[in-house]
Amino acid sequence: MSTAQHEPWWARAVFYQVYPRSFADSDGDGIGDLDGVTSRLDYLDRLGVDALWLSPIMVSPMADHGYDVADPRDVDPLFGGLAAFERLIAAAHERGMKVTTDLVPNHTSSQHPWFQEALAAEPGSAARNRYIFRDGRGPGGSEPPNNWQSVFGGLSWTRIVEPDGTPGQWYLHLFDAEQPDLNWDNPEVFDDLEKTLRFWLERGVDGFRIDVAHGMAKPPGLPDTDVEMRPRMLSDGDPRFNHPDVHEIHRNIRTVMNDFPDAVTIGEVWVFDNASWAEYVRADELHLGFNFRMVRAEYDITDIRDAIENTLAAAALENATPTWTLENHDVVRGPTRYGGLVQARAMALVTLTLPGAVFVYNGQELGLANVELPDEALQDPTWERSGHTVRGRDGCRIPVPWSGDTPPFGFSTSTDTWLPMPPEWAALTVEKQSGDPDSTLTFFQRAIEIRHTRPEFTGNRIEWLDAPRGTLVFGRGDAGLLCMLNTNDRAAPLPDGELILASAPLIGGKLAPHAAAWLVSSVDPRR
Ligand code: GLC
Repeated sequence: MSTAQHEPWWARAVFYQVYPRSFADSDGDGIGDLDGVTSRLDYLDRLGVDALWLSPIMVSPMADHGYDVADPRDVDPLFGGLAAFERLIAAAHERGMKVTTDLVPNHTSSQHPWFQEALAAEPGSAARNRYIFRDGRGPGGSEPPNNWQSVFGGLSWTRIVEPDGTPGQWYLHLFDAEQPDLNWDNPEVFDDLEKTLRFWLERGVDGFRIDVAHGMAKPPGLPDTDVEMRPRMLSDGDPRFNHPDVHEIHRNIRTVMNDFPDAVTIGEVWVFDNASWAEYVRADELHLGFNFRMVRAEYDITDIRDAIENTLAAAALENATPTWTLENHDVVRGPTRYGGLVQARAMALVTLTLPGAVFVYNGQELGLANVELPDEALQDPTWERSGHTVRGRDGCRIPVPWSGDTPPFGFSTSTDTWLPMPPEWAALTVEKQSGDPDSTLTFFQRAIEIRHTRPEFTGNRIEWLDAPRGTLVFGRGDAGLLCMLNTNDRAAPLPDGELILASAPLIGGKLAPHAAAWLVSSVDPRR
């Protein structure tokens, strides 16, 4: 799948994120697994995706559904073990599809042997020094070492009981208490990550999505802060993230990756200053970084244009490949965020116009919206840690509906799926949408196919054209490709050109409200 002239395969790839618990269940336990993914590869092939990104599949007690890794060099039995992963890699490669997987270097599971060893060891021991243990403040060390909060709510410190039974030190966890942060100042930590990188790369993995890639390095002395530490991991001024020492870690990772030149790294970088973001994609660091400006953009012309311009500008600072994400397993689904499926389809078309790598999250191609779950169904640790004030991310993680008229819609043979599936999804199954020319699935298939095959989808230059109020029109490259987005409640006249795809049927030859379209103009409207 390598493309011409030294362009790496990921430079214009469509990645498809599989949330393994929620994609397809092959063994009837109500939780998705890797043989389930393998059984659906033909579907993904028809959709036209170039590469998979699997959320973590390593051995895990699943406190954060795999983002708490107890053995980074084995696959969890829940997902079918290493053998199932090898089957998946082979079957994907047969179809020319790449397989990338999540890597979680910022923290481990509290069940990781290193952490268990640390708990059993003395303060100041080598075992404790793989994590961030500190004495508490105040009388008897009963207060946490600093005021940092967990991204999931509550303190980012938990106090342990020492092996002799006395109240002891505290350890840092920016996420759940089951996810202790590693001490990246300890060289053993990178040595172990190197083993992990090589383990997977030697088994044919085509790269890694690196979790919390702007985390890992912590400021010396772990100072208190008065910045707002929620929501999430917005880094600006937050001492928990984006410490400059993190770049040395990325350079070390890159040195290993350079032994596997056809494999990619994609960092989760919640950094919004363009110059700071670009540091992560310098030539000797990550290959790709998620730029989350599009996720954060409101459905508003000014915001969308600003997100596109800044994403491009940030990547251009290091001559890096831009990336585009509208959905993932951490954010509210597009149709819910934008106030409708029509809008979400239009936004998808806008991102599929753009140069670089595009990420599609499982179920996005079916137009799934977020699901409101009852309290008792919630599983995201955020719900408990926030004292039942933040519901968390389960609503975007519901299993994918494949076929049939009632839950579990072919996802599993068990009706007891790990998150309940809404009966209304009967209309949204892959079976119902396949072959329906107006379905969201058919729309995604056509858009991806056109993006891959039409010669106009080249060139990195974006040019903004004059457009009626509430609409955006931009050209990409030099072959006449235009994209128009209409955020108005009334239809808008299209520019001249051959219409190649619209996200909704035209109305009297005009672009429907909240639709987007691709055109190819033979007369360059920019002149
Ligand atoms: C990343 C993941 C998220 C996880 C967190 C902790 O943000 O995308 O799902 O909870 O890291 O690993």
